[in-house]
Amino acid sequence: MSALGPERVVMVGGGGHAMSCLDAADQRRLEFVGYVSPEPDDRLPLKYLGGDDALEELRRSDVTSAFVALGDNSLRRTLCGRVMELGFDLATLVADTARVSSYASVLPGAAVLHGALVGPRAEIGTGAVVNTAASVDHDCVIEEFAHIAPGTHLAGGVRIGAGAFAGVGASVIPDVHVGPWAVVGAGAVVITDVPPRETVVGAPARSRRRS
Ligand SMILES: CC(C)(COP(=O)(O)OP(=O)(O)OC[C@H]1O[C@@H](n2cnc3c(N)ncnc32)[C@H](O)[C@@H]1OP(=O)(O)O)[C@@H](O)C(=O)NCCC(=O)NCCS
Repeated sequence: MSALGPERVVMVGGGGHAMSCLDAADQRRLEFVGYVSPEPDDRLPLKYLGGDDALEELRRSDVTSAFVALGDNSLRRTLCGRVMELGFDLATLVADTARVSSYASVLPGAAVLHGALVGPRAEIGTGAVVNTAASVDHDCVIEEFAHIAPGTHLAGGVRIGAGAFAGVGASVIPDVHVGPWAVVGAGAVVITDVPPRETVVGAPARSRRRS
C-alpha cells in the first residue's frame, strides 16, 4: 500500500488457486486490475485481460506489480521469472485472517492464505505458498516456490526445500528437512528427512518408489 492507495496488481492465473488468493487478498493493500490466463474462467470475478501476451502491454501502463496465483510450483516459478523479466515487481499476499509473527519474514511473490499461521523467525521464500489454515511454526524455512497445502502443520525448525510440496493435512515433526522438489503426500506424517525430488506417503512417511 502506498500513500496513494492500494498497490495495483495483475493476477497471473485464473483457476481455483487464483480464486483462493483473490478471496484472501486484503483489498486495502492489493487491487487486482484483472487476470491473465490462457483461457478465461467466468467463475473468477475479475476482468479477463487475455493470455500471457497481455502482460507486455500491461507493463507499459501504470500497473507495476504482478501476483502469480498458480498452485503448481514449477509453473509458478516459471511465471514469476517471466513477469520479473518484463519488469514487474512481485506482489506479496497475506490474508487479513492469517497470523504472521512480526519476527517472521515473507518474501515477494509469496502467499499466506486465510487462517494460516506463521511463527516467529520463520521465513517464507519468494513465490512460496502457505495455503489455507496451514501452520508453519517457529524457525521454519520455506524455500522459494515451495507449497504448504491446506491444513498442513510444520513443527518448529522444519525446512521445506525449493519447489517442494507438502500435501493437504500432512504433518512434519521438528527440525526435519524436506528436500527441494520433493512431494509429501496428503495426510503423511514426516519424521525423517526427505531426499530431493522424492515422494513420501503414509504415517510414518515412507518413499513411494516408482515402478
Ligand atoms: C502422493 C501423491 C502426490 C501421489 O500421487 P500419484 O503419483 O498420482 O499416486 P497414485 O494416486 O497413482 O497412487 C499411487 C499409490 O500411492 C498411494 N497413495 C497416493 N497418495 C497417497 C497418500 N497421500 N497417502 C497414502 N498413500 C497414497 C495410492 O493408494 C497408490 O497405492 P497402490 O499403488 O498401493 O494402489 C498424491 O496422492 C497426493 O497425496 N497428493 C496431494 C494432493 C494435495 O494435497 N493437493 C492439495 C492442493 S492445494
